[in-house]
Amino acid sequence: MAETSRQLAPATDVAELDLLETPAYVYDLDELRRSHAALRAAIPPETRLFYSLKANPHPAVVRALCSAGCSPEACSPGELEVALAAGASPDTILYTGPGKRDGEVAAALAAGVRWFSVDSPAGLDQVDRLAASVGATAQCLLRLNGRSAGTAQGLTMTGVASQFGADETWVLSQPRQFSSRPRAEVAGFHLYTGSNLESEAALLAQFEASLATARRAARALEVEPRLLDLGGGFGAPYARAGALLPLDGLASGIAALLGAWFPGWRRRQPLVAFESGRYLTATCGSLLARVLDVKRSHGTPVVVLESGINHLGGMSGLRRLPPLVPDVQSVAAADDSSLRGAILAGPLCTPLDVWARSADLPDLEIGDVVRIPNVGAYGLCASLLAFLSHPAPREVVVDGGEIVDVSRLQLVRRGLEASAGDANGYPDGRQ
Ligand SMILES: Cc1ncc(COP(=O)(O)O)c(C=O)c1O
Repeated sequence: MAETSRQLAPATDVAELDLLETPAYVYDLDELRRSHAALRAAIPPETRLFYSLKANPHPAVVRALCSAGCSPEACSPGELEVALAAGASPDTILYTGPGKRDGEVAAALAAGVRWFSVDSPAGLDQVDRLAASVGATAQCLLRLNGRSAGTAQGLTMTGVASQFGADETWVLSQPRQFSSRPRAEVAGFHLYTGSNLESEAALLAQFEASLATARRAARALEVEPRLLDLGGGFGAPYARAGALLPLDGLASGIAALLGAWFPGWRRRQPLVAFESGRYLTATCGSLLARVLDVKRSHGTPVVVLESGINHLGGMSGLRRLPPLVPDVQSVAAADDSSLRGAILAGPLCTPLDVWARSADLPDLEIGDVVRIPNVGAYGLCASLLAFLSHPAPREVVVDGGEIVDVSRLQLVRRGLEASAGDANGYPDGRQ
């Protein structure tokens, strides 16, 4: 932690950052707060905003967003632990996911979590049974898979066969299967149609389709929703230079849609919520990595970095992320793109560890530090960290131009005794 007392320029000012030990993710909390303020201004003030921890579960990031007013959306025991440690009140947390183990639901209930997104009648039964066993009553948002496919540029989760939610046609045709249980009340609906939408028009079209689905389901179930989570899909740059999409007209557009589909929403229920991971965190993070080798192969320039798919972009291959086409900025030299058509590889012993096969790069030398911008969302946590057992990069948190935290995820294997159980919600000790 030697660096923690050193004053730094903001993380966006790369000049100082080559002094850090690399590879390192740098998260700038000032930029994070700016992104939060931008998204808050883009949705009506009467609505709630959930932070989806899957985008970046770093404790400092989660703490800063909770302090700014976000509620956590957690979908695993590990995310729940971070949310609670960040100081989030358990009753503000929404626990989601298409398949939940009894152990994790029981652990969440025991921690005081009361809001669950459920994806099927079996999900409602599970929450009901486990809530009853601790004498609690849980509020469930029924996740709906609407009729039409979203227009998401990233992942589409609605209008297609999927593990997410219950098909709208199922809910409308068999509403009794989805009615409240004694300890699991259907308190509203959860819709998340897709991620990384790149225009206000696409966002509004998606929210309108979701509102129509929610209203049809509310009528069929004869439910007055108390909370309506319309998801998000707010797009953001990924590993490319650039700023967040301005969403100046979105709040008024959303308010108009809500007025049309749920008149009176401002004065009475439902309370409307949105979720975001990417928009909130993308621009706060950079990855710094040093050049390990520069050479030519069959006439093509090759640059080997100390970070590869184990630190960034591993999930691009699974189409969880957009294809990785990183902007590589030299921290020291001017970005003159003098290495044209280069292979940009990581250090892993596999030919798949390539970020780009024809990149235009600055004139790099061994030992230079490069910076990949806008990787605060789906950076380290969406990489193939365990593959080939290299150490994790450092994670450096900068606040007000000063380094306030340096840490490194540890990959440690520990044995599980057959009956001892596990703190991560696997009470029977199974893996
Ligand atoms: C249910 C749900 N909520 C929120 C998110 C976060 O999406 P994003 O980071 O694009 O905002 C996702 C992403 O897959 C999701 O599936």
